[in-house]
Amino acid sequence: MEGKAKLNGPDLTQGVELSMVPDGTMLLGHALGEPVLLVRRGDELFAIGAICTHYGAPLDQGLLVGDTVRCPWHHACFSLGTGEALRAPALDPVSRWRVEEVRDLARQFTPVEQRVGAVYVREKLSRQPSPAVPSERRTIIIVGGGAAGNAAAETLRHEGYSDRITMLSADESMPCDRPNLSKGYLAGVATDESNLLRSAKFYEDQKIDLHLGTRVAAVDVRSKYVELADGNRLAYGALLLATGADPVRLEVPGGDLVHVRYLRTLADSRALVSNTLASRRAVVIGASFIGLEVAASLRARNIEVHVVGPETIPMEKILGPEVGSFIRRLHEEHGVTFHLGTTAISIDERSVTLKNGEKLQADLVVVGIGVRPATSLAERAGLAVDRGVTVDEYLETSVPGVFAAGDIARWPDPLTGERIRVEHFVVAERQGQTAARNILGGRERFDAVPFFWTEQYDFGIAYVGHAERWDKAEINGSLDRRDCTIIYRRAGKKLAVAVVHRDLEGLRAEVEFERAITRNNSSTQAVQGSAPMAHRA
Ligand SMILES: Cc1cc2nc3c(=O)[nH]c(=O)nc-3n(C[C@H](O)[C@H](O)[C@H](O)COP(=O)(O)OP(=O)(O)OC[C@H]3O[C@@H](n4cnc5c(N)ncnc54)[C@H](O)[C@@H]3O)c2cc1C
Ligand code: FES
Repeated sequence: MEGKAKLNGPDLTQGVELSMVPDGTMLLGHALGEPVLLVRRGDELFAIGAICTHYGAPLDQGLLVGDTVRCPWHHACFSLGTGEALRAPALDPVSRWRVEEVRDLARQFTPVEQRVGAVYVREKLSRQPSPAVPSERRTIIIVGGGAAGNAAAETLRHEGYSDRITMLSADESMPCDRPNLSKGYLAGVATDESNLLRSAKFYEDQKIDLHLGTRVAAVDVRSKYVELADGNRLAYGALLLATGADPVRLEVPGGDLVHVRYLRTLADSRALVSNTLASRRAVVIGASFIGLEVAASLRARNIEVHVVGPETIPMEKILGPEVGSFIRRLHEEHGVTFHLGTTAISIDERSVTLKNGEKLQADLVVVGIGVRPATSLAERAGLAVDRGVTVDEYLETSVPGVFAAGDIARWPDPLTGERIRVEHFVVAERQGQTAARNILGGRERFDAVPFFWTEQYDFGIAYVGHAERWDKAEINGSLDRRDCTIIYRRAGKKLAVAVVHRDLEGLRAEVEFERAITRNNSSTQAVQGSAPMAHRA
């Protein structure tokens, strides 16, 4: 991707004056046919790939934070020093190049090509493999082949763990980019292959034993084994539960007809795509993220769409009335008809009947009325479960050696002190990464600030923080101009920030929350440190 990108800015192999890269700034240029960011941090200079390895965002429009650069689109984080992707959703590193500052021509071998005071980007540097780490955790089993499970498996290898990793997934397909199932994939602009997080060869090369279509029926945490649906048992040294969430079923007459679809897996999305080929009129039941993203993707396929939901303003509870009303108008401008303040009470082959008496013609029905965390394995295994699997700040469950990550995990939010559970792709991946390091003996708190995004038509919103309950939504800027920041507060405290076309503000809000977390953590440590010994854990 980096190699094919358009080249802008100076050719950095020809040198640029040091004054063109003031301290704390990035200069976009190119080297040897690839876009490169030249970055100065104090006396240090770095040259890394300028294109995010997730969806290809321009990193020069991101934010420098310490010795990292943050991606403007979905907040991946890359090390300036090594190019490593330190935080999901990017999983691959960016390249890095050697940088040379010419201070004294006499010390150079080829003075004709060089200017004193200039900085040159030289050859590309190779990636340093991680040293193998000894681990007592022979055989790590990951239950779940989604965002969290995949990120955990990759991280275990990346951290140098060389023993057996077994990933068991009830899904028939390999770990996939689930958010795209309701967006580009359903709209028909992304292929099957581009929707996989990794190729089959990747798992083979990494010696990650991936079993698809394999459901775990039970976990025995005393004898440390998992039992598969076919009765086979697999012993583990450490276990990660990352079973995600299941769509809530619509329990109405006709709810199980073949043209009534749900959307969680790649197989679901494929089935939905094949339905769309013969469909002219769809009813989408559910006016939240998945329902509305599906509505937008079906419109891209020229299907007439009706959206049904019990709320009066879509997404009001999460994003507020102004954003909700804006999103409704956006959909209406694209031809969607809303039927709000009502629900579906029955479905037949040709129509959906609503509680308010309306009957909507439909040859396709998509249900997106929320999900439930898939906690039944954990519950039956005797782990503490409270509207999600209860984990501590290290993502360890109530049973030592058993970790949980992703949509199922309810963890202590370091910002508010409340236990929270979210259904965000990036959070699931980051939890998988943290859990993996802790399985290997690390003591890394999960303190990443929650982040999610949604895209509908050409409109996108990015959200950092977590405001399950808020009492004030303050809009700075204009939604109509698609240029604004929305701050969500409770009792005056800023809990979350959403941005529309203001990527840098979104990144700055994330950093602000991170600093608040660091302050909270250090004051907790100070309190613990000053407690009498007898009270310490
Ligand atoms: C259509 C759609 C669009 C979305 N869009 C966005 C978005 O725009 N932004 C965003 O932030 N988030 C989005 N999300 C949410 C995001 O995808 C989830 O938060 C994320 O995938 C959760 O990751 P996870 O690893 O916890 O679970 P999943 O990715 O769901 O993976 C769970 C895995 O566990 C397996 N499993 C479950 N039970 C068992 C068992 N008993 N035995 C073996 N395997 C089992 C499943 O087969 C699956 O492989 C979207 C989700 C969907 C469905
Ligand atoms: S494009 Fe960079 S994180 Fe998605």
